Amino acid sequence: MTDGRAQRIVLVVACALVDADGRVLMAQRPEGKSLAGLWEFPGGKMEPGETPEDALIRELREELGIEVAKACLAPLAFASHTYADFHLLMPLYVCRRWQGTVQPVEGQALEWVKPARMRDYPMPPADEPLVAALRDL
Ligand code: C5P
Repeated sequence: MTDGRAQRIVLVVACALVDADGRVLMAQRPEGKSLAGLWEFPGGKMEPGETPEDALIRELREELGIEVAKACLAPLAFASHTYADFHLLMPLYVCRRWQGTVQPVEGQALEWVKPARMRDYPMPPADEPLVAALRDL
């Protein structure tokens, strides 16, 4: 910022859920939300008082109907992106073990995608740089 005003910081936490075939779950942002139609790593905004892991466990339960243990979440990468009206900080975790079956609880489209195919899925600009971190999984 050059005008001296503080920019609003938004903290989002996201997860690369990896299945036994090495595919990663992508979720499509629904109509009516910002960046609708783009494909993102599941997750969401942190709430006050939450650790990133707490927030991710809550979001994965709410959005996908799965239970994830804190010990199964490993930090993988970190996104920092300036949008027009806020700055997004977003750690990306990787998770290979969860309980329950992944479901589109909020009606969102879900796809399991090989990291090499992710370029076929248009993503929010904050998520795009995170794809590189998945190549070595
Ligand atoms: O999902 P939600 O709309 O609460 O996220 C807040 C903002 O963070 C979005 O408007 C979007 O700009 C950004 N975001 C993102 N990549 C994600 C999740 C959110 O860029 N995976």
